[in-house]
Amino acid sequence: MATTARDTVEHVLQRLRIADGPVSGECLSRELSISRMAISKAVSHLREQGYDIVSTPRKGHWLKALTDRPLAREVQPLLKTESLGRVWIHEPSMESTNAVAMTMARENAPHGLVVVTDAQTRGRGRMGRQWLSPPGRGLTFSVVLRPNLPPERIPQLSLVAGVAIKRALTSLLPELAVGLKWPNDIWVGQKKLGGILCEMDAEIDRVHHVVVGVGINVTTRKEEFPEILRDQATSIREELGRSPGRPLLLATLLNALEDTVTQWLASEDLTPLLDEIRHNSPLLGRRISVDQLGKTLRGVAENVAPDGRL
Ligand code: BTN
Repeated sequence: MATTARDTVEHVLQRLRIADGPVSGECLSRELSISRMAISKAVSHLREQGYDIVSTPRKGHWLKALTDRPLAREVQPLLKTESLGRVWIHEPSMESTNAVAMTMARENAPHGLVVVTDAQTRGRGRMGRQWLSPPGRGLTFSVVLRPNLPPERIPQLSLVAGVAIKRALTSLLPELAVGLKWPNDIWVGQKKLGGILCEMDAEIDRVHHVVVGVGINVTTRKEEFPEILRDQATSIREELGRSPGRPLLLATLLNALEDTVTQWLASEDLTPLLDEIRHNSPLLGRRISVDQLGKTLRGVAENVAPDGRL
C-alpha cells in the first residue's frame, strides 16, 4: 500500500475507534477530506486485517471488534519495554519467524526486533522437529537479542524465556497451571501448550545474536491438532474455555521477556530465576530419559543447576 493509502487506513480506523456506533461514509469523507472510494478501500483493508467492521448502506461503518491479529498498531501501545518490540515485522504468513529473524539479525537488525506471523508454513521445533500450528490459532513470534555474553551461557536462555512466559501467562490467567518442562516446553498438566526455540550466531568466545522463538497454542481446538499430537498438545482455550486476545497476550509476553532477560543478564547465571524454574518444573523427582546428541540418558531428574543443566 502507498503511504497515503496507509495514512487513510490509520485515519479511518482512528475515527471508527472513537465512535460508539456507525459512522457514515459521507461523514468520514467530509471529516477526513478523502474520497468515498478511498474510504471504502480503507474499510476493506481493515476488514482483511481482521477488524470486525459492519457496513450498512444507510448507517455507515461500525467497528464492532478490534482485530485479534498481532499487528504492531495493536501491540506496541501496550508495551512497557525499552527495546523489545520497538521494531516490528508482521506478515500474514511466513515459513518460520525464527528463520526470518535469523536472516534479519545477520543483516544487522537491532536488538529487540520482533518478527511475528499468523501462520508458519515451516515452523521449526527443537532437534530438527517441526512446529505445527493452525493459522490464526496460536502466537508464533521471534525476538532478536544481542546479549554481551559468552556463547556457553546461551542455553540458559530457553529457561529464562520459560520463566517469562510463565510470569506473563500467570498474570493474565492466574487459574492456568503453567509448568516449565526442562529445557524448552511450556506445559499445562501433562500436555504441551507451547515451546521455545533459541538459535544463535556466535564465534567461540562472542555471541553475535540470538533469536528466541516462541510458539503458544492459544485458541486451537483439540480436533485441529494433528491426530498424533491430540493427546499431547493443548491450548489456552482448550484448558480454560476462553483466551486473552493475541495482541494483549503478545504485549504481556514481551514485557515479561524484557524484565526477565534483564534480571538474568545482571547475574552470572540463573540464580535469580532458579526458584521459579524449580517450583514449576513437572520433571523434578521423576524418572526420565533425555535424548542428547544421539544418546539416551536415563535417571531421576533431581534438580536444575544454576548454569541450567538438569
Ligand atoms: C519446540 O517445542 O520444539 C520449540 C517450538 C518453537 C516454535 C516457535 S514458533 C515461532 C518460532 N519460529 C519457529 O520456526 N519456531 C519458533
